Amino acid sequence: MESLRVKDLCKTYIVNKRQNNVLKNISMEIKEGEMTAVMGPSGSGKSTLLYTVSGMDDITAGKVDFFGRDIGSLNAKQMSELRLDEMGFIFQQMYMLKNLSIYDNIILPAYQSGRGKGRERRKEINDRARELMHKLGISEIAEHDMNEVSGGQLQRACICRSLINNPKMIFADEPTGALNQQNSREVMKELNRINREGTTVMLVTHDMKVAAKSDRVLYIEDGTIKGEYVLGKYTGEDAMREREKKISNWLMEMGF
Ligand SMILES: Nc1ncnc2c1ncn2[C@@H]1O[C@H](COP(=O)(O)OP(=O)(O)OP(=O)(O)O)[C@@H](O)[C@H]1O
Ligand SMILES: [Mg+2]
Repeated sequence: MESLRVKDLCKTYIVNKRQNNVLKNISMEIKEGEMTAVMGPSGSGKSTLLYTVSGMDDITAGKVDFFGRDIGSLNAKQMSELRLDEMGFIFQQMYMLKNLSIYDNIILPAYQSGRGKGRERRKEINDRARELMHKLGISEIAEHDMNEVSGGQLQRACICRSLINNPKMIFADEPTGALNQQNSREVMKELNRINREGTTVMLVTHDMKVAAKSDRVLYIEDGTIKGEYVLGKYTGEDAMREREKKISNWLMEMGF
């Protein structure tokens, strides 16, 4: 089954009465369980693609099906429920609420989606949050504020938050963009694990090392998909050098 099916997607922004066709007839599919990276020059439309297919931004024309549901047919309330219940988001500049602890930020989406009713279900949420924080190695910062943690810790907290409602699919816009090599590796390790456990992932990245850990890379230029490169499932560090080489040669061919 496809998790995402995009047909003739167009997105036009109008700024100062001037029309900017940012996405031009994009068609693509992402299979369930697949991890897809999107690469391309700055301004080519990568973020716009991620935001439109995930319903964060409306589309000008075309059709987007998310696990068989036409998101264009949903009203605002249905769309926000779908986002909260079935999608997870990770961005480069993550926003957490300043007046809440890291822990409270992580569990917030569970309460927003109405999962926190009753003692039993609150316990489930707490257990899941603890387990996620443990897996991502940030248990010790649970009670910290967001300005009392490192960039890598904050990013991992954001991943916990994006996973708290067990999403079917994660959308990540340069999830490692603000991180050093080591933190970036840790974040990718988690995304790879989540993906192996069944969550579909679509991520935008400039980093070849990140792309090399995906199953497939799409190259977007000037609002159209210029090509795709299928790497197959990432199996571990041993294969990295080879995969990176393949990606870098291919990107060169693409003129990146
Ligand atoms: N909200 C908006 N209103 C108007 N124009 C926008 C908006 N968001 C993006 N754009 C324009 O759309 C184009 C594509 O932007 P987008 O953010 O998708 O690029 P990108 O590929 O993600 O670039 P980068 O690698 O720098 O993040 C750019 O020309 C940008 O100026
Ligand atoms: Mg972008």
